[in-house]
Amino acid sequence: MTAPVDTHRDLALSLDAADELGTFRGRFNFPQSRHGRPPVYLCGHSLGLQPKEAVRYVQQELEDWARLGVEGHFHARRPWLPYHRLATAGLCELTGAATGEVVAMNSLTVNLHLLMASFYRPSPSRYKILIESTAFPSDRFAAASQIRLRGFDPAEALLEWAPRAADQALHIDDLQHILDESGEQIALVLLPGVQYYNGQLLDMKDLCARARAGGCRIGLDLAHAIGNVPLALHEWAPDFAAWCSYKYLNGGPGAVAGAFVHAQHLDGNAPTQLLGWWGHAEETRFRMAATFDGARGAELWQLSNPPILSLAPVLASLEIFKEAGIDRLRRKSLRLTAYLRQLLEQRLRDTVTTITPMHARGSQLSLCVTGTGLAPREVFQNLARQDVFADWREPNVIRVATAPLYNSFADVFDFVERLDAAVKGRRPPPR
Ligand SMILES: Cc1ncc(COP(=O)(O)O)c(C=O)c1O
Repeated sequence: MTAPVDTHRDLALSLDAADELGTFRGRFNFPQSRHGRPPVYLCGHSLGLQPKEAVRYVQQELEDWARLGVEGHFHARRPWLPYHRLATAGLCELTGAATGEVVAMNSLTVNLHLLMASFYRPSPSRYKILIESTAFPSDRFAAASQIRLRGFDPAEALLEWAPRAADQALHIDDLQHILDESGEQIALVLLPGVQYYNGQLLDMKDLCARARAGGCRIGLDLAHAIGNVPLALHEWAPDFAAWCSYKYLNGGPGAVAGAFVHAQHLDGNAPTQLLGWWGHAEETRFRMAATFDGARGAELWQLSNPPILSLAPVLASLEIFKEAGIDRLRRKSLRLTAYLRQLLEQRLRDTVTTITPMHARGSQLSLCVTGTGLAPREVFQNLARQDVFADWREPNVIRVATAPLYNSFADVFDFVERLDAAVKGRRPPPR
């Protein structure tokens, strides 16, 4: 005999009651209900929730600007001149970087371009860039345009590592095959830490080792990895990495992003390095000389003075990460996704398939809905009408992320209950 549904929800509630990270949920603002139910927010892979503290951080800078005008650069409570450095320790912690290897700056695609300007150094024989075939479009556009900028043709110079049709996952043997066949022509490998579409967590250490063994430089796009899984960039030694701060980092829409440059490159200055005054050594920047005296470390890659109001919420969020700790968050994340998968298996085995490899996952599971008699998109719309915040990716994937800072086991339970109703084309009774 199956237990009544509410008994199961009690189980979720008891898991929440025992959760050592459970109180962090109360430090975030959840969106309002649109259709009369408590929202279930599973969109941390797209836009993380607002830390309540973010308001105070932004407010402080607005007040200091009002009070001090230009003097705020030196005399704000958090002076703006070195403001970006307030993010450095937190970013080092989350990325496993050594001092000097990270900087908060710009946005993700801009950073990919800046870093490729330095680290994509094609020669007549080694000029190709290897990406994955399901790469986020911005990464593809960025790589293709860098290829064009250096006088090559992306149709020939952009190589793709494709997932296998059978399981939609990327397999390392296929990557090795490309490296064995074409490695000598590949100048740069540009790959994600966590794949945005199927949620697959790649073995970044292994990727870096294989690229290096093939004589290729490697850059990592950590948009879906930072704040989601522990990282050890200094040890793994990609040449560079970049990320955005608005997903698991909860830095707010368009928040200031980040970049990593491995210590081995911090002394070298590529002839194609793009320069701006904020990459100039701070001690001599304001002499306004015509010659460039570069900053030490990843700060060399900065171009402009940072947008303080978009960096303030990132600081608020990094404080929360410091308290919670990425290792504890990862443990909870694995439990949440395991629970989600278990409930899906119990209740929706015939209609919902998880395409995320469970042995290689972050906080996101990507779900395909089939055999319901409804178009998959209709199921997604039914979900949205029940105040579930998930997202849809063509042609048939619903992405959900259980962000361990603010998602609960009860969220997971409620999501599955609402998904069950959505695939049946009905609404469950409100609770
Ligand atoms: C994997 C990946 N790369 C690049 C981007 C583009 O980011 P931005 O608009 O901040 O440059 C995104 C945005 O979601 C992303 O998920």
